[in-house]
Amino acid sequence: MTGKKKVPFVTFLTRVRDDSVQGPNPYRWEKRTSDDYFAGKRVILFSLPGAFTPTCSTYQLPNFEDLYAEFKKEGIDAIYCLSVNDAFVMNAWGKSLGLQKVELIPDGSGEFTRKMGMLVAKDNLGFGMRSWRYAALVNNGVVEQWFEEEGFSDNCGTDPYGVSSPQNVLQTLKDAA
Ligand code: BEZ
Repeated sequence: MTGKKKVPFVTFLTRVRDDSVQGPNPYRWEKRTSDDYFAGKRVILFSLPGAFTPTCSTYQLPNFEDLYAEFKKEGIDAIYCLSVNDAFVMNAWGKSLGLQKVELIPDGSGEFTRKMGMLVAKDNLGFGMRSWRYAALVNNGVVEQWFEEEGFSDNCGTDPYGVSSPQNVLQTLKDAA
């Protein structure tokens, strides 16, 4: 990605807990837009091929969670993890990891990922269309730094993981300070 790009305006369909909802599943739909997530905030966005996949679940998401306080010290207001998965899957993934700090964004239709130019086919794994792995520093909706894994391609055999790791993103922020 070259130049300063604005994140696309998309409406995400999230599921939020609401104890006034009767029954065993007290959640309701809530629409959240790109403006809700990005306007007036300096945030880290990272996106990955799928909830519950090994690298994402073992390293990338838990390490962003663990380093959250370090990112806050660098002036980051929020960290968002986005995946082309629906809100039920994303919520279940967050719950399974005991997530408290990183916020999950369900891009179930892939609209945000497609408009970011990051949608890839993963039919080789039976995944359908998913996100290439990347991270970004986004300030008030404008992409200020871009961390894209090498080899952007459809049906990639092994998804690279390095440049978009929380350790690399954090070090880059520290070096720029
Ligand atoms: C992962 O471990 O991150 C991964 C596994 C399979 C497909 C995509 C990603």
